[in-house]
Amino acid sequence: MAIRTILHYPDPRLREQGQPITEIDDRIRALIDDVAETMYAAPGVGLAATQIGEAVALFVIDVADEDEPSDLKVFINPEIVAKSGKACIREGCLSFPGVSEEVDRAAEVTVRAQDRDGKPFELKADGLLAIAIQHEHDHLQGKLMIDHLGLIKRRIVHRQMTKNG
Ligand code: NI
Repeated sequence: MAIRTILHYPDPRLREQGQPITEIDDRIRALIDDVAETMYAAPGVGLAATQIGEAVALFVIDVADEDEPSDLKVFINPEIVAKSGKACIREGCLSFPGVSEEVDRAAEVTVRAQDRDGKPFELKADGLLAIAIQHEHDHLQGKLMIDHLGLIKRRIVHRQMTKNG
């Protein structure tokens, strides 16, 4: 396991799509461990493989509170199959250090994915988990939180992330 470098906006690799994973082998399991370890070290509540420069369809999430036992969820080849309601909370992203902005999301989502053993599962989520699933799923499409913002906020965040020094 290794803590990997998290890519920061505007690194073009963040725009790559996570390609479907056809075989969950030792290489993929090692990558899962790296993504999880990197997320915990940051610390963050979610991290997608594309954020460490690995363009495959995989992300991890752990929304457990600090005083709760860890609850690592691994999503391989995730697909959001249903969305309902509306939610808007302030989100951060490990690829946008120091930035937090309100993003419009669905309040509830149903996601289908495979776990680290390749076993398919379906999960209906709400609250912070639902937001995190949508945020990380976006990463696998090469979509970033900045894309959800209006023109003015988008310019401000872009400037903040690209200014020298
Ligand atoms: Ni993010």
